[in-house]
Amino acid sequence: MAAKQILVIDEGTTSTRAMLFGANGKLHGSQQEELQQYHPAAGLVEHDPVEIWDKTLRCCQKIVEQAGGAEKIAAIGITNQRETIVAWDKRTGEPLCNAIVWQDRRTADMCNSLKAKNLEPMVQSKTGLLLDPYFSGSKINWMLQNWPKVAAAGDNLAFGTIDSYLIVRLTEGDHITDASNASRTMLMSLDGRDWDDELLKLFSIPRETLPKIVDCAGNLGKTSARLFGAPIAICGSAGDQQAATIGQGCLKKGQTKATFGTGAFILTNNGGKPPRSTHRLLSTVLYQLDGKRTYALEGSVFVAGSLMQWLRDDVGLISYAGESEELARSIQDNGGVYLVPALSGLGAPYWKADATATITGLSFSTTKAHIVRAALEAMAHQCSDLKIAFSADGTDWQSLRIDGGMVANDWMVQDLADMLNLTVERPEFFETTALGAAMLAAMGAGIYKSLEDASVMISGLETYEATIQPEQRNVRMAGWKKAIDGTLSN
Ligand code: G3P
Repeated sequence: MAAKQILVIDEGTTSTRAMLFGANGKLHGSQQEELQQYHPAAGLVEHDPVEIWDKTLRCCQKIVEQAGGAEKIAAIGITNQRETIVAWDKRTGEPLCNAIVWQDRRTADMCNSLKAKNLEPMVQSKTGLLLDPYFSGSKINWMLQNWPKVAAAGDNLAFGTIDSYLIVRLTEGDHITDASNASRTMLMSLDGRDWDDELLKLFSIPRETLPKIVDCAGNLGKTSARLFGAPIAICGSAGDQQAATIGQGCLKKGQTKATFGTGAFILTNNGGKPPRSTHRLLSTVLYQLDGKRTYALEGSVFVAGSLMQWLRDDVGLISYAGESEELARSIQDNGGVYLVPALSGLGAPYWKADATATITGLSFSTTKAHIVRAALEAMAHQCSDLKIAFSADGTDWQSLRIDGGMVANDWMVQDLADMLNLTVERPEFFETTALGAAMLAAMGAGIYKSLEDASVMISGLETYEATIQPEQRNVRMAGWKKAIDGTLSN
């Protein structure tokens, strides 16, 4: 029987996973390992690329064994935390330093000085991105300026986002990246096929250090036979938010998804033309197939699931994620408490890299339930702000498909529908990021002719409708506005 199983590598911010899918989209197995987060100082976030590779490889090897050997796997699909940048030695694939993670704010001053020179309009019109430390370009520049091992690597120096790093390790040599990941570096123009000279110059990055930009599906390379007993074809690759958009079946212009992972990322499919935002949203490559690009309008919120993790692991207000739902349900309302989760600055639509988190409205009647409920409510508040920005950019959401770990929380899902006053659709199978990568790989391996055909892999949807009155919504949003205005003016 022909190998029809797909191995997906989903390398996220907090964990790395390998998952096995059937060609019908059914999940056959999953392996996961947590990743150590390094915070050398406030605002700095690093990962150890050696750990990322070792854990990814270990998860993959277990899944290949479960599948019955490499021959039973038709293709690999890769999806990853975006913007995070790795530097390695081209000869060995060995990292030269820690990875600088997308949440890291160390290049805020550099971005501010470029803004002061009025360079943001040029950067935005080329890349669809705004001058913020979130993106890879300034992080690469920082590595070159501050880590001697990186600068000293000379001709052997290679940079790449996590997809690129995993591919170089899997193939033992191929230095490529897909267009969806490349569009997050701030080094490629949205309609350019290659790295942009003016942007490379802006960040002083030698072109030879960067990967070749390729499609999101097709023949992207083969794994070294050494790793899994026989080579496996890599047939799909996309940034995790783009993959989730595909896995949610948002393949038509106007369809929108929101993923509540470490952060919350809302993407609306914009078809074959790059959107041009005038309301501080991003334009990004959704996917590139046969050289043809589909674009998305994106709102990036930096803190979502990481807030609950922080409340659990660092503050100790909850002892397991599900407790947040119990606490939110245990009270009538938020008691006037609002939480602005600017734990790594604020992303869209505010873009304030140095913002810090605030909790407002505390009194002696405040309990931990109010604070936890305020944390959950912040998800809907942030999404409401994005809904307004998307609408002002001419993109009204008709409905919102949601996914990511946090959407297991039924209370939060209902709150989203209530506050957005919109039909919210939750798939039966939440792992849409991995599913999107499986769809790309299945298409790249020729199992399906198009992403539309591969949509048979997608499960059904459960819907939530708004149940509250406009006045209740207005009170909530007025409280949030006061809190966010306070945060912005600090
Ligand atoms: O842009 C950052 C994003 O890709 C991170 O995704 O899944 O770790 O929240 P996640």
